[in-house]
Order: sequence, then structure tokens, then C-alpha cells
Amino acid sequence: MLPSISIIGGTGAEGSGLALRWAYSGYQVTIGSRTLDKALEKAAELNIKMPDTKPQLVGEDNLTAVKASQIVVLTVPYSAHRETLLDLKENLRGKILIDVTVPLMPPKVDQVHIPAGGAAGLEAQEILGSDVKVVSAFQNISAAHLQDPEMNIDCDVLVCGNDSSACEEVIDLVEAAGMSGIHAGLLVNAIAIESLTPVLISLNKLYKIRDAGIRVTGISRTEK
Ligand SMILES: NC(=O)c1ccc[n+]([C@@H]2O[C@H](COP(=O)([O-])OP(=O)(O)OC[C@H]3O[C@@H](n4cnc5c(N)ncnc54)[C@H](OP(=O)(O)O)[C@@H]3O)[C@@H](O)[C@H]2O)c1
Repeated sequence: MLPSISIIGGTGAEGSGLALRWAYSGYQVTIGSRTLDKALEKAAELNIKMPDTKPQLVGEDNLTAVKASQIVVLTVPYSAHRETLLDLKENLRGKILIDVTVPLMPPKVDQVHIPAGGAAGLEAQEILGSDVKVVSAFQNISAAHLQDPEMNIDCDVLVCGNDSSACEEVIDLVEAAGMSGIHAGLLVNAIAIESLTPVLISLNKLYKIRDAGIRVTGISRTEK
């Protein structure tokens, strides 16, 4: 049976795009928000795009959303990262947290910013402790890619974390969302992976595009 997935901050561009893609692949997805009405509205908006044969998305407040799933995805701005995790910490015990957060410092979103803890993913693990398996992923996937669930995305997703089997589970979710997932080592590597996002934002600006991404060469796609 497929695991259910809850997305904290799932009303935003990145979280709602991932939500749509997983629901399209047959996963039960809960959109979490600080405001129940906002979550219900976003779930209803996404359900319009869902064929009748697929599971309907549901909307909940963030805490109820966390309680609903063993896999929780965090897609909030970095400024809300610590506070959101502290609020949800007790209810995340025993679960996988997929951290998508990039420590951007608006308005300088095209410049690398290394936070005090090295990376948002490392800070999440430090805040949550060893009871939560933090896996870092999707930071280099522009929300612009995610909106059409039938479009294949020609980008790799670097997945890192300290628990190998949790990383493998997340790689399955990357593939289910129509992307290619690559195991990129321990959580400390999130420092480099998160730092690639402002580089990609710079490329978008300099080359007047919306969706710069990355592809790793040298890996056999059937053997990964
Ligand atoms: N957008 C992209 O293309 C992209 C690509 C890669 C990675 N990311 C990363 O993914 C994360 C989400 O990006 P996004 O563009 O989806 O962000 P966003 O739309 O600005 O925010 C996502 C959601 O976070 C919640 N939120 C906003 N401010 C908050 C606060 N002060 N406290 C608690 N929750 C707050 C809101 O949900 P509620 O109001 O419903 O609670 C909002 O809908 C960011 O860390 C971003 O760097 C984004």
C-alpha cells in the first residue's frame, strides 16, 4: 500500500505542485496550512485537475496534517522554518520529514546564504532530534515545473539524509512525482544542494528563463 503524504505549507507554489503530482500518482495527500480554510480551498482547487479515478486531496490545519501521515513534507519560507518545526516537533516523532526549504534571504534570492546551522536540512535535524528521519530533497526543482502533472520533468533531484532507507523511500516519491531521484549522500551535503538553488535563480535571471535545473552525468539511469 502506498504511504500517505502530508505537506506543511502545501498551499504555496512548491508544496501544491508536489501535492498534485503525488495525488496524480495515486498517493493520498493532505495539504497543510496555518489556516484550515486556506488548506480546504487549495485542496478543492487541485481536485478540479484530478481525474475521478485518482484519490482526492484533502486540506487540514498543519498539526492535523502531520498527524495524518508517516511522511511529512515541509515547504515553507526559510523565515518560518524553525518556528514551524518547533510547533510540530512532538507530532513528527517516528516520521520521515522531507525538507524542501532553501535558506534564501529575500530580496537577495540569487545569492547563496549559508545559515547558522549550515543548511536548513541540518537545522531541521538538530531541532527535531534523532526521532525524526530528516531527508533533504526538491530544493532545485522550480515550482514552475510542477504544475502540469502529466509533464515529465527533465531534472534530477538530489536526495540526502543520514538514514539510507528513508532516502530510498524518498527517491521512490521523487520518481512517483515524475522526476529522477539520485541518492546524494549524508544530510551534511544539503549545504551544497540548498546552495545550488540561488545559482539556478541566477541562471533564470541571466538567461531569461523560468526553470533552470540540474542533471548529473555519469550515472546509469537503470542502475541508480
Ligand atoms: N517556489 C519554488 O520554485 C521553490 C523551488 C525550490 C524550493 N523552494 C523552497 O520551498 C519552500 C516553499 O516555497 P514556496 O515558493 O512554495 O513558498 P511560499 O509560497 O512563499 O510559502 C509556502 C507556504 O508557506 C506558508 N507560510 C508562509 N509564510 C509563513 C510563515 N511566516 N509561517 C508559517 N508558514 C508560512 C504559507 O502557507 P499557509 O499560509 O497556508 O500556512 C505558504 O503558502 C521555500 O523554502 C522555498 O525556498 C521553492
